[in-house]
Amino acid sequence: MREAQGKTIYLKDYQPPVFIIDETHLCFQLYEDKTLVSSRLVFRRNPQANAGAPNELVLDGNDLALEKVSLDGNVLDPSSYTVTQESLVIPQVPDSFTLECETRIMPQDNTSLEGLYKSRVMFCTQCEPEGFRKITYYLDRPDVLSSFTTRIEADKNLYPVLLSNGNKTDSGDLAEDRHWVTWEDPFKKPSYLFALVAGNLKSVDDNFTTCSGRKVHLQIFVEEKDLDKCDFAMSSLKKAMKWDEDVYGREYDLDIFMIVAVDDFNMGAMENKGLNIFNSSCVLANPATSTDQAFQRIEGIVAHEYFHNWSGNRVTCRDWFQLRLKEGFTVYRDAEFSADMGSRAVNRIEEVGFLRTVQFAEDAGPMAHSVRPESYMEISNFYTVTIYEKGAEVVRMQANLLGPEKFRQGTDLYFERFDGKAVTTEDFVKTMEEVSGLDLDQFRRWYFQAGTPMLEVTGDYQEETNSFVLTVTQSCKPTPSQPLKEPFYIPLRTGLLNPAGESIVLEVEGHEHDPATDDLVLHVSEAQQDFVFKNVSERPVPVLLRGFSAPVKLHYPYSRDELMLLMQHEKDGYARWEASQQLSLLVLDELIVAYQKNSREKNVDERIVAAFDSVLDAALTDSATDKAMLANLLLLPSESYLAELTDVVDVDAIHFVREFLRRYLADKLESKFLAVYEACNSAEEYVFNANEVARRYLKNTVLNYLACLDKPEYWALIKGQYQSANNMTDSSAALRAVLNNSSEQSKSLRDELINGFYETWKDESLVVEQWFSMQCATSSPDNLVNVKSLMAHPAFDIKNPNKVRSVIGAFCHNNAVGFHQLDGSGYKFLADQVIALNIINPQIASRLLTPLTRLKKYDPQRQEMMRAALKRILDTPQLSRDVFEVVSKSLQ
Ligand code: BES
Ligand code: ZN
Repeated sequence: MREAQGKTIYLKDYQPPVFIIDETHLCFQLYEDKTLVSSRLVFRRNPQANAGAPNELVLDGNDLALEKVSLDGNVLDPSSYTVTQESLVIPQVPDSFTLECETRIMPQDNTSLEGLYKSRVMFCTQCEPEGFRKITYYLDRPDVLSSFTTRIEADKNLYPVLLSNGNKTDSGDLAEDRHWVTWEDPFKKPSYLFALVAGNLKSVDDNFTTCSGRKVHLQIFVEEKDLDKCDFAMSSLKKAMKWDEDVYGREYDLDIFMIVAVDDFNMGAMENKGLNIFNSSCVLANPATSTDQAFQRIEGIVAHEYFHNWSGNRVTCRDWFQLRLKEGFTVYRDAEFSADMGSRAVNRIEEVGFLRTVQFAEDAGPMAHSVRPESYMEISNFYTVTIYEKGAEVVRMQANLLGPEKFRQGTDLYFERFDGKAVTTEDFVKTMEEVSGLDLDQFRRWYFQAGTPMLEVTGDYQEETNSFVLTVTQSCKPTPSQPLKEPFYIPLRTGLLNPAGESIVLEVEGHEHDPATDDLVLHVSEAQQDFVFKNVSERPVPVLLRGFSAPVKLHYPYSRDELMLLMQHEKDGYARWEASQQLSLLVLDELIVAYQKNSREKNVDERIVAAFDSVLDAALTDSATDKAMLANLLLLPSESYLAELTDVVDVDAIHFVREFLRRYLADKLESKFLAVYEACNSAEEYVFNANEVARRYLKNTVLNYLACLDKPEYWALIKGQYQSANNMTDSSAALRAVLNNSSEQSKSLRDELINGFYETWKDESLVVEQWFSMQCATSSPDNLVNVKSLMAHPAFDIKNPNKVRSVIGAFCHNNAVGFHQLDGSGYKFLADQVIALNIINPQIASRLLTPLTRLKKYDPQRQEMMRAALKRILDTPQLSRDVFEVVSKSLQ
């Protein structure tokens, strides 16, 4: 394991590699007790290297047993090189040479799931970002691009299928029931895109004819038992391939594209060239075992990894500080794909919801960093929501600034110019400037400055001049090592509605009215600015940040009636939803203040009831409105968003007040909720399409409201839904409804469903993971006992990341009242788990830590206990670099 020692890597220290590797030839001999890796690497001095750099070869290597090394055919004496824990150094080498290494590794013992490891019965690899160095000595950095050939030898019965990148070139038999296969990848690639898989796998096969008429063989490899769960991913893949041709002009390049499903995987999926490896939870699905949400996630993630073939693989990153170049861009691409496949507005709402609870919180915490960070200790810690989600927003803003045609010109030029190269964020932005003629100088601050900008907006209507003045003030709080921020360029898409809810044609100097959307983009670029709208004949209601045009926080002193008007008339889905969230927030804030004063009076502003009532009416009468949109309008802001919005989080107040309001609304609107439930209920066969997903979503949203009324007739309704459901979406929603609305009355039903569900699905590990996570994520103060008992369940396995996430992660991330119990039990629990996982799997340990890093948001008593938990972790021997970085930064 790479141990703590706080060594920081800085972007400013980047040096081009002194050597490059033209050819990489690998041979793997897989055995049950060891794997022998032989490499033959053809090196050449890099013409771009700094002239003065000495001819010293420093290769990365981690946990490797070096058996033999030879240079140009001569075996080197151990005295002529140095092996450290992290490198192999040969002090003097020629300008070009061939190096051969033999190393021994132990994949069967590798629980970090980085490098080559065993996932139950199969071998597989995960090399991004720095896993390749756990396989053999190498220049394990993304700017060294090499051609690869791979030979794999293994037992023929245990591992009949042997895969690597590119095309299969040959195969044959060996003694002792073993066999071999060779693969050749015609495209040069960095080591992080290397992959190997060996197992007793079956495949589902299909093909895709590209726009130039080439036939590509598509294969999804799984264990035999999962063959019935591949069709959806296959059809998603074909849609993604077509979409990337249509929208970006990107054609697939190899004749074969393979996906492999593995059960033990740290992340969701990985874009290895021609051989994507997926967490089985992100690829396997059928209606009986998978929820609509799982289907949607699979569609997005299959597309994401496929899209990397251009944004990441053909054009890759020069160094890991440029990570957003492939990840932010590819998330933007997959989000647009999903928007085209389903409901654009609902997709946007869900993206924004995620961004501003999770990413805004990261921006406000100790790990805050810019989209292009300046330094890191452990790069694995920087696959963050900031790199991904905010990175995607920064691409989205550029796409909007340029408009569809120029943006397409920009991406065409980017892919063409940098094909086969390892590039930087700057190369991307410069290309966009070049095709558009725009000056993105100030815009670049989005890349360099961390933190979430805050816009304070006020409106002043001047009757005498028929003008409406919006005053916009921007600020951004300090983040670690960035105390002061320069103003951002913020594209603020704005409309005005008149008191009847109709759009007003906008006239603002220096700004162009967009007739398609009846709005315009205000160019916010200074600390404070006035924007004057002319010829406005009545006091208008402004609609700000349509489409969430920039990743900022925004405050405007809307009255509740203005918010109701927006909810009723606003056309932009995001802005309409945001108005509903704002209205709920105002009501919740009032109730929280009352709760904190211990006041018995709980006055709920009736306007929120009216607002919900009209949404329910729309669900009953207006078949044109997207039901998923309506479901979103019925959701109160989440506990984590409420926490994000306050300086000092009052976990109990947030939880109990939100629950109170939910019950209040259910009670007031009971018959309407029931009517919507009935209108959305259907016994038809399961179909996955946008309309049907939306129908089930709305139905199960209202079911949750009915459940909190705690009435026998609704428990019966839920039980009926559970028993008659022909799909996992409906049966798990029924289970969730009894879990989320726990009462003594429903206890027997709860036990019945929990046990029944397990009995039905105990052989489907993905469903068992769902079962774990539904129970552990249930928001309730005393849930830790359940979590602990589930950790003792035979299906739990601390070495399997999905199980860890569905039990420990679900509890610590989603159940604030349980995790933040005042006796400190939640903190102690998480610290214990992190300490155990630090040895087993440092990446998972480090990711799990997030809730403890937000200590500054809590009261002194909780802060003290959180600090103590972090200190206890810090004092653990053999702390991994991953955990050390997060803990030490949180304690600063
Ligand atoms: N390249 C990443 C996978 C990865 C991440 C490998 C971190 C090593 C370390 C992949 O393209 C990715 O981004 N996967 C995401 C899902 C995606 C839909 C955002 C993941 O795994 O969560
Ligand atoms: Zn990615």
